[in-house]
Amino acid sequence: MTNRQRVLSGIQPTADSFHLGNYLGAVRNWVPLQDSHDAFYCVVDLHAITNPHDPAALRRRTRVAAAQLLAAGLDPDRCALFVQSHVPQHAELAWVMECITGFGEASRMTQFKDRTARYGSDKVGVGVFTYPILQAADILLYQANVVPIGEDQRQHIELTRDLAQRFNSRFGDTFVIPDALIVKETAKIVDLADPAAKMSKSSESQAGVIDILEEPAAITKKIKRAVTDTGTEVRFDPAKQPGVSNLLTIQSTLSGRQIEELVTSYAGKGYGDLKSEVAAVVVDYLTPLRERTQKWLSDEAGLDEVLATGAARAREVAGATLAAAYDAVGFLPARR
Ligand code: AMP
Ligand code: TRP
Repeated sequence: MTNRQRVLSGIQPTADSFHLGNYLGAVRNWVPLQDSHDAFYCVVDLHAITNPHDPAALRRRTRVAAAQLLAAGLDPDRCALFVQSHVPQHAELAWVMECITGFGEASRMTQFKDRTARYGSDKVGVGVFTYPILQAADILLYQANVVPIGEDQRQHIELTRDLAQRFNSRFGDTFVIPDALIVKETAKIVDLADPAAKMSKSSESQAGVIDILEEPAAITKKIKRAVTDTGTEVRFDPAKQPGVSNLLTIQSTLSGRQIEELVTSYAGKGYGDLKSEVAAVVVDYLTPLRERTQKWLSDEAGLDEVLATGAARAREVAGATLAAAYDAVGFLPARR
């Protein structure tokens, strides 16, 4: 046991690879928090079935997600890495939190609004509606102080805070009120082919989405075809030059060099030079990450062992919080 602050975050196993937006916006920031915080990181498979899915793919992607997280630097000795469905308390607390969430409040969540607008309410499952409440349960079960995420998740953390405050004021202090940790520079990595949109696995075209497990040749091709902006000078101006600025952000974060220094180094050079350098940096960075992921995937037993240990630790903490929450709402204690 430690008295360090807690961190929790989660990622969905809904693709065969994370993309660079996931990695730079979220996962990368999870790594240093293992040293400063008591860390819990979760592959959120319950969230992953809110949209139609293939069972075999889900099982495979759950391991691929865990392997990528380990390859990215999560260390089973310094964090609990686990699969959400291995910890039954997530679904149990979600029910309780659903009962204190307003119907209108849940209806205002962007993800739900977008999906129903796009597909119609008969095609969107109730799981999409309750999704953010399950996410609140994920966070509150661990009494997390901080939640490292990308910009698109801000609204869900706001809801989590509202629900925790409401629960605490109605039933007595039970939950820690968490803060979002959003690193401004990388909070929204944009699509290389469409800099007006965020990089996303659900984009129709994957031409502007770099998967972290993608082959070097494919990565290079996508970066070389990235949409840049009118003009020729390499400048950092996300509002006026979103494409070029996005490439600079990617290069800066992966190389550890400051944006200003990079901009100076491109003086007198053009977008072609920028793209070549960015491609080289991305490939250099992702190649060992891909290899480490493959290594973990070739040791399924070892991977499953890490996840089992993580889930055991998670259940201890989640079990204690759920018991407190059940007691607070007045459930009769179950006799064992
Ligand atoms: P998801 O794949 O939706 O489970 O997202 C996992 C994490 O990646 C979340 O914290 C998101 O906020 C973050 N994320 C997803 N797309 C981007 C993006 N384009 N830029 C920055 N962060 C992102
Ligand atoms: N909704 C998040 C996403 O799409 C994933 C997630 C689920 C999450 N539970 C979480 C993130 C708890 C942070 C904390 O990215």
